[in-house]
Amino acid sequence: MTNLITFVFMFNFHLFTHYLKHLKNANNRHGVHSPFVYNLIDEVIYNFKDNEDYIEIESLRKKLLKNQNYLTITDLGAGSHINNNKQKQVKQIAKNALKPKKLAQLIYRLIKHNKPTNAIEFGTCLGLTTAYISKAAPLSKVFTMEGCPQTAAQASKNLNSLQTNNVQVLVGDFNQNLPNLIEDLPQIDFVFVDGNHQEKATLDYFKQLLPKAHQNSLFIFDDIYWSKGMKNAWQQIKQHPQVTLTIDLFWIGLVFFKTDREKEHFRVKF
Ligand SMILES: C[S@@+](CC[C@H](N)C(=O)[O-])C[C@H]1O[C@@H](n2cnc3c(N)ncnc32)[C@H](O)[C@@H]1O
Repeated sequence: MTNLITFVFMFNFHLFTHYLKHLKNANNRHGVHSPFVYNLIDEVIYNFKDNEDYIEIESLRKKLLKNQNYLTITDLGAGSHINNNKQKQVKQIAKNALKPKKLAQLIYRLIKHNKPTNAIEFGTCLGLTTAYISKAAPLSKVFTMEGCPQTAAQASKNLNSLQTNNVQVLVGDFNQNLPNLIEDLPQIDFVFVDGNHQEKATLDYFKQLLPKAHQNSLFIFDDIYWSKGMKNAWQQIKQHPQVTLTIDLFWIGLVFFKTDREKEHFRVKF
C-alpha cells in the first residue's frame, strides 16, 4: 500500500492533500458509537488475517506482474493518468490498474460479511478483484463488466485458472450491458464500481442500480477523491435519501441502505 500511495500521489497532488485531510479527520473503531459500524470495523475492515483464497489469488497476481504479453486496449473510461498507449503489457496493467492486495482483500471480507445473492462489478480489468468477489461468495452470481475485449479475454483466462464457476464476464460498455442486467435481477445485493470515474457516469450508474437496492445491499465506489467530479459524485451519493449510512475509507466509499437507522456518515482510517 505504501508503494501505491507514493506512486499515485506523484501524479495527483490534489489527491495527496485530501489524503492528509482524511487522516486528520478519520476515526479508527474507538471513535465510533454505532454498534453496526463498530463491529464492521472491528471484525471485517481491520481483520487482516491471511487465508487460502488470498494466497491463491495473490500468486496469480505475481504471475501477471511478470506477463510480458501485449494487449490492445480499448479505453472507454475516464482514462488512466499513468499510461494511455493503445498497446499495454499485461504486467503494466497488473501494476497500474488492479486494486492493491490490501483493498481487494477488504472487498473480499465485506462480501463474506454481506453474503450477496447477486454481485456486480464495474471494471473487470484482469479479473483479480473479480476473483476475490467470486471466492468470497461462491454461491452467489457474480456479474463483471469490461469494455476492452482483449482485457476481458485475459480476465476470463485468469478466472478459469482459479476455477471460479460463478462469474459471468459481460464485454462492452457499461451503458450497453447495465440496463438488461438490472432488469434481469430481482435484487442487487453488492456492487463495486471500479471503472469510468466520471461524475455524471458514476451518478447515472448509481441511479440505475437504486431501484434494486434493499435493506442489506452494499454498494462500493472506488476513487471517491480521484477528481473534483468524483468528489461531487460522492457527496451527491451520500446525500441521496435512500442512503442511510456511508463509510469513507478514502480509497473507497461504502454505501448502505439500512432503513432502521438515522442517516450517518463515517470516515475511517484504512
Ligand atoms: C481500474 S480497472 C478495474 C480493476 C479491477 N476492478 C481490479 O481491481 O482487479 C477499470 C476497468 O474498467 C474498464 N472500463 C472503464 N470504463 C468502462 C466503460 N465505460 N465500460 C466498460 N468498461 C470500462 C477499463 O477498461 C478497465 O479495465
